[in-house]
Amino acid sequence: MIVIGCDHGGYELKEEIAAYLKENNVEYKDFGIYSEKSVDYPDIAIKVCGEIVKGNAEKGILICGTGIGMSMAANKIKGIRCALCGDVYSAKMTRLHNDSNVLALGGRVLGKGLGIEIADAWLNTEFSGEERHINRINKVMSIE
Ligand code: RB5
Repeated sequence: MIVIGCDHGGYELKEEIAAYLKENNVEYKDFGIYSEKSVDYPDIAIKVCGEIVKGNAEKGILICGTGIGMSMAANKIKGIRCALCGDVYSAKMTRLHNDSNVLALGGRVLGKGLGIEIADAWLNTEFSGEERHINRINKVMSIE
């Protein structure tokens, strides 16, 4: 299960990501927002990340104008490793090396084509499982 959410700055790209997930038969739940009405991005990040922390979803995608606010909020939540990506290479590498469980995207930064390509690469790359990366992730996750 993939959970997605956005603020007003990410609404357009979130709708495109939702359509991509549907077309590819990926099970997802959309936590909104459902229009361009202004909201506070931390409220959405908390909802989406909460589903991952509770074990109701495996991964999440958060979209705001730049992706920065969403990634800052998500990374404050224990158990979340959120990667803000603006290119396909980083999206692949953060799955392989960081086992990121949330992807943040900038809806006002990326065009539809690139946004979907980044999400596709991120969703379809598995964590390498290599010991050195597990050790590094454990160190990151133990930071209070
Ligand atoms: C909203 O105007 C904008 O600040 C938000 O979408 C995001 O870019 C924050 O980081």
